[in-house]
Amino acid sequence: ASLLLHATMLHTQTVMEVQVPEQPMVALHGRDAILNCSFSHASSFNLSDLSVFWQLTDTKRSVHGYSEGHDQLTDQAESFANRTSLFPAQLGLGNASLLLRRVGVADEGSYTCFVRVQDYGSAALMLQVAAPYSKPVVTLEPESNLRPGDEVALTCLAYGGFPEAIVIWQDGGGRNLTDNITMSLVANEEGLFTMTSMLRVVLEPNSTYSCRLINQLLGEEGYASVTITGQNIAFPPVALWVTIGLAVCLLVLLIALAAVCRRKIKESCEEARREGREWEELWESRGSSA
Ligand SMILES: *[C@@H]1O[C@H](CO)[C@@H](O)[C@H](O)[C@H]1NC(C)=O
Ligand SMILES: *[C@@H]1O[C@H](CO)[C@@H](O)[C@H](O)[C@H]1NC(C)=O
Ligand SMILES: *[C@@H]1O[C@H](CO)[C@@H](O)[C@H](O)[C@H]1NC(C)=O
Ligand SMILES: *[C@@H]1O[C@H](CO)[C@@H](O)[C@H](O)[C@H]1NC(C)=O
Ligand SMILES: *[C@@H]1O[C@H](CO)[C@@H](O)[C@H](O)[C@H]1NC(C)=O
Ligand SMILES: *[C@@H]1O[C@H](CO)[C@@H](O)[C@H](O)[C@H]1NC(C)=O
Ligand SMILES: *[C@@H]1O[C@H](CO)[C@@H](O)[C@H](O)[C@H]1NC(C)=O
Repeated sequence: ASLLLHATMLHTQTVMEVQVPEQPMVALHGRDAILNCSFSHASSFNLSDLSVFWQLTDTKRSVHGYSEGHDQLTDQAESFANRTSLFPAQLGLGNASLLLRRVGVADEGSYTCFVRVQDYGSAALMLQVAAPYSKPVVTLEPESNLRPGDEVALTCLAYGGFPEAIVIWQDGGGRNLTDNITMSLVANEEGLFTMTSMLRVVLEPNSTYSCRLINQLLGEEGYASVTITGQNIAFPPVALWVTIGLAVCLLVLLIALAAVCRRKIKESCEEARREGREWEELWESRGSSA
């Protein structure tokens, strides 16, 4: 049916005005989206004379077809099965918009809307998919026993978003930190990203590090920060020294005890051996006498 439609379109002479949004449209992952397409019609027409055909601009794969008053879905790409429809009541009013259900990352791309009544025309629109990231979380590695001058890794993590976000690290004074940042981007089976940005810094007391994550497509911004205070940075406190002291005392005590025990055991062993020898001698003397 689509081949026939293409052929007919190529041989038709006049051009109908078909309008789609000029700006890329942004659809939210998991939600439904309406891909607008409207066409001008001079006079009222019979719906059975209308053909609407949506296809992927790049691959020419069929997204949705309509002609002779019915949906024509035999050559529809499998990824769009059960997810598309037109608005039948709107077709006669010049509205050939496509409803696309449960938009996914894989749906991103250019879509062409072909319309034919007597004249024909087409126009392409761009669909972009967006998903909001989780609130970022900043963690510190190592987490404790930090000393000034130590190198630490700060990690900012956010997940479930699309597309790639911008991550900006700043210090307490609002200055951008641009050195020693490593980024990683991992997609899940739905194509949504987990973003990890790692900043390596040499620790200074009383410093704040903040991570700002921006999803430009949604104009969405997430923020998280850590402040390294005197509590994170500390030399072994008094309590630790006391603990170590006690432990050493206990160890010395145990060693002394062990030494005493060993001597005792050795003594009793020797005694037993002496007794044993006496018995042996006794037996030997008996045996020789027997
Ligand atoms: C689609 O068309 C309707 C009606 O003209 C308009 O309100 C809506 O903003 C359009 N949507 C997009 C994504 O252009
Ligand atoms: C087409 O019709 C649908 C359903 O009423 C509506 O949501 C959409 O905005 C319409 N699009 C245009 C371009 O009029
Ligand atoms: C629309 O076209 C069909 C098939 O050509 C015809 O049977 C029907 O009567 C037409 N309807 C109108 C309102 O012209
Ligand atoms: C579409 O829906 C039909 C009927 O509900 C079902 O048999 C078919 O498996 C569905 N196809 C997909 C790809 O979900
Ligand atoms: C930090 O970087 C962001 C993005 O690159 C920029 O918008 C901002 O003005 C910069 N701030 C400073 C203080 O340099
Ligand atoms: C970046 O890391 C390297 C090695 O980890 C370190 O020598 C260097 O000083 C760091 N640069 C900054 C600006 O922190
Ligand atoms: C760190 O901040 C605390 C409280 O704001 C302050 O009492 C302390 O003197 C500061 N230490 C340094 C080294 O700046």
